[in-house]
Amino acid sequence: MSRKILIAGNWKMNKTASEAGELARAIVAQIATLSAIDVLMCPPFTSIPKVSEIVGTSNVRLGAQNVSDKVSGAYTGEVSAAMLRDLYVSYVIIGHSERRSYYGETDAFINKKLLTCLDSNLIPILCVGETLEEREAGKVEEVIRTQLVGGLAGVPADKAETIVIAYEPVWAIGTGKTATPEQAQEVHAFIRKTISEILGTEPASKIRILYGGSMKPANADELLAKPDIDGGLIGGAALKADDFLALVKSGVKAQA
Ligand code: 13P
Repeated sequence: MSRKILIAGNWKMNKTASEAGELARAIVAQIATLSAIDVLMCPPFTSIPKVSEIVGTSNVRLGAQNVSDKVSGAYTGEVSAAMLRDLYVSYVIIGHSERRSYYGETDAFINKKLLTCLDSNLIPILCVGETLEEREAGKVEEVIRTQLVGGLAGVPADKAETIVIAYEPVWAIGTGKTATPEQAQEVHAFIRKTISEILGTEPASKIRILYGGSMKPANADELLAKPDIDGGLIGGAALKADDFLALVKSGVKAQA
């Protein structure tokens, strides 16, 4: 497989800067020179300077959990792409289901943020996924197609293949319920097919599609063995260095 596995930790609204520093240090100490796969930590904004210092010149990458759709100016409370770039952030999680449901983010708004990222050479991780209600109503494909078509509108051809997609079934986030590897693979294959309709077959073959939703050391090997699962976006298990490092190990195994 030509796609490089990406193991990404989404720390959500957890860890003060000093706690984040401790966690980042424990992770970086073990995998500073790892190059077989990509590893990413996404702390809250307030911890980014601290974690940036610790990541330094290691191979571990730094991501943010959100970015403003605006470039600069009078937008109280917002953080711009340039501010993130200045702290050596290279990825941004866009359109997480928690932002969609708690903060009312729409596909159109998420699309603006995605295009802002691409303009600033930040790699967007576009999250998509259905609720349990939508799954039970047989609407998985319809929901995900709408999120992809809306989120990926107007992507410039030369940047398309850098984008990362994360499939996060809402019913599996923080619930301990993981999609089975078969359920996840089915949706990942659908996502790749849909991306090829939107962006073309070449980018679709290169774009990495991560799975997220109660991924942990006990289920990672099986999930990562599937042909269209190119890594994980991990919440709870990314907050413990040992668990996250075990997931990195699973990634290395799957890449080999
Ligand atoms: P959990 O791994 O805690 O289920 O969270 C997944 C997630 O939302 C990652 O973005």
